[in-house]
Amino acid sequence: MTAAWDILITRAEHSKLRDLNLENIPFGKYFTDHMLEVDFIDGEWKQPEIKPYQPLLLAPSMAALHYGQAIFEGIKAYNDQAGNPRIFRPLDNYHRFNQSAERMQMPAVPEEIFMEGMRQLIELDRQWVPSREDHSLYIRPFMFSTDEMIGVRPSEHYKFMIILSPSGPYYSMPMRIHVEEQYVRAAPGGVGYAKAAGNYGAAMYATAQARKHGYDQVLWMDASEHKYVQECGTMNVFFIIGNVAITPSLEQGTILNGVTRQSVITMLKDAGLTVEERPLSLEEILAAYDQGTLREVFGTGTAATISPIRELACRGRDLHFDVDAWTVAPGIKKRLTEIREGKVPDVHGWMMPV
Ligand code: COI
Repeated sequence: MTAAWDILITRAEHSKLRDLNLENIPFGKYFTDHMLEVDFIDGEWKQPEIKPYQPLLLAPSMAALHYGQAIFEGIKAYNDQAGNPRIFRPLDNYHRFNQSAERMQMPAVPEEIFMEGMRQLIELDRQWVPSREDHSLYIRPFMFSTDEMIGVRPSEHYKFMIILSPSGPYYSMPMRIHVEEQYVRAAPGGVGYAKAAGNYGAAMYATAQARKHGYDQVLWMDASEHKYVQECGTMNVFFIIGNVAITPSLEQGTILNGVTRQSVITMLKDAGLTVEERPLSLEEILAAYDQGTLREVFGTGTAATISPIRELACRGRDLHFDVDAWTVAPGIKKRLTEIREGKVPDVHGWMMPV
């Protein structure tokens, strides 16, 4: 880390931690005592600061509020068996963050600010990392444009921040999914591969319609033909057909290159399964279901980790899965949890000590 980016630390006078039970906590609702904040002004990143978690004072004309130049990441930290926090694959999220920044015409955040800022922030709030299984410290880096100007153009000023949220599971039960053949999440040439805030806002209408009918999430289809599966809600999606795991491929730029997705692909291969990253059509899924070869369907994501799908509703049919009889997804989830919690060797070098 260069001296230019030594982080200025102002500690909170009191910790809010004693009012919380970390062993029983919802996803994303509570935030730790501190946050990281850095401004991009006149073409350069200024002094990073770690300070007490607090509201921001922002101008109503601030560009991000109007035109959505805003991106984020999701990362998790876990305590190892000695009670020391370790972060899961943060460098992969750092690289994806800057890919999102490039697509949204925003400045790259230097690795030192992102990685060292995250490390020092977690170090300061290390008491907030939950130890219970399926719980973790969710790390939310984000950046938004801060020009006070409502002409449409890339901003000249930006704010990069990291906040931390001790969190329980995102989905606590296997999901019921509606296959969405009307609304789309992303089209080729668009921003589907970027973790742009607007992708999530744009998904809310279709998701709300599905929820009204009792579903937890939607399975997005491709924008051109509504034929190939894409993502499931905020997650990547895997189908186990026979002894092959299939997940939609990334080449069209409509799908997020998930860090959990990559990890699951690696672990499925470690477990001896064949993994295919390729276009997967609804027809193929329905045919496999009818032939009895569609064994498991699950979503993967940082927040959701590995979430089983117990029902897929499409074209007037309900495909049901006996989640309790599955072996692949539960096995991979168990293995991933053991790696994160330091119960088995981290053979892939995924855990970064704080
Ligand atoms: C994540 O898995 O980290 C996500 O980005 C999903 C989130 C929007 C809760």
